[in-house]
Amino acid sequence: MGVEEQEKKVVDDADIDVSVLEGVGPATKQKLNSAGIYNLMDLVVHSANYLLEVLGGSMSKVLLLQEKARAKLTEFRVLYADFVSADQLYEQRKKIAFISTGSKNLDNLLLGGIETQAITEFYGEFGSGKTQICHTVCVNVQLGADQGGLSSPAIYLDTEHTFRPSRILEIAEGKSDVPFEMLRNIHVARAMNSSHLRLLVRNLGRKIRETDARLVVLDSAVAPFRAEYVGRAQLAERQQVLNVMMHDLTRLSELYDVAVLMTNQVMAKPDVFFGDPTRPIGGHVVSHATTYRLYLRKARNARVASIMDSPHHPPGEAVFIIAKEGILDQD
Ligand code: GTP
Ligand code: MG
Repeated sequence: MGVEEQEKKVVDDADIDVSVLEGVGPATKQKLNSAGIYNLMDLVVHSANYLLEVLGGSMSKVLLLQEKARAKLTEFRVLYADFVSADQLYEQRKKIAFISTGSKNLDNLLLGGIETQAITEFYGEFGSGKTQICHTVCVNVQLGADQGGLSSPAIYLDTEHTFRPSRILEIAEGKSDVPFEMLRNIHVARAMNSSHLRLLVRNLGRKIRETDARLVVLDSAVAPFRAEYVGRAQLAERQQVLNVMMHDLTRLSELYDVAVLMTNQVMAKPDVFFGDPTRPIGGHVVSHATTYRLYLRKARNARVASIMDSPHHPPGEAVFIIAKEGILDQD
């Protein structure tokens, strides 16, 4: 079977409901669904520990269930369920695409723009432009390739209640004849707290399949955890739940070839966690999970982004501005 056919098969497999498995009755199905697991692929890619938490019972039963799901997905060879040959990985990596930020400088710094199959994090103090970048990229992802887009919808997880449809319209008006269409292609969820955010992330796979989105925005990804898990006593627990969410995001970005764009704040109290006042919050759990990290700072009439952590980008900076039309280069 060629790579193309195999990929098509994977997409078909993605929709095989968990209830086809022997032993998954209505009650089990409901438990799985409420935890964001709908189909065989979901069942295979989640950790056994998580399934145990969801289903209760014994680990051996959980492992057996996963084994059954795997057996049904005999053709499921891409990335997670089994070994893949390097040429398949090569094919998968070849699909990586870029979404323009609106600023050529910033796109160049990112060696092309916001990348699919990766997590890009922008962190910086209030007013540094994080939310404005999120808004602009949600419009840009919908544009055609000639305009730096992927002709695809976006998903926006808003934890700070700062998503503004009117701002999307304003940015879209400069780039499209059908700005209202662009609003329709942004699927927004307001996360009320960190558990709600985790649940939304758990269910993202289905939403991505339903919408064909190629961009997932989390603005802000870490703030709710910081607000709810306070003090040293809760730090370990916070890091644990954050870790699970970050792993989910990594897996989703690769499995569905989507770009994850997340924002983060800088620490205001250097003595509380790790000591460096310019550090983003979330510690190693977040820093290990993100593929690219950029630090944003305010400059006179402009913003400056610096690459902080990347496997292959040279260190560097880019200057951009926030205008009526969204993120732009300074002229
Ligand atoms: P916090 O979420 O508070 O941490 O800040 P942020 O980094 O998300 O900043 P945000 O992107 O919200 O705003 C950055 C700057 O963009 C603001 O200080 C304003 O100068 C500018 N800005 C915000 N909204 C608009 C807008 O609607 N139009 C224009 N032209 N500029 C805006
Ligand atoms: Mg913001």
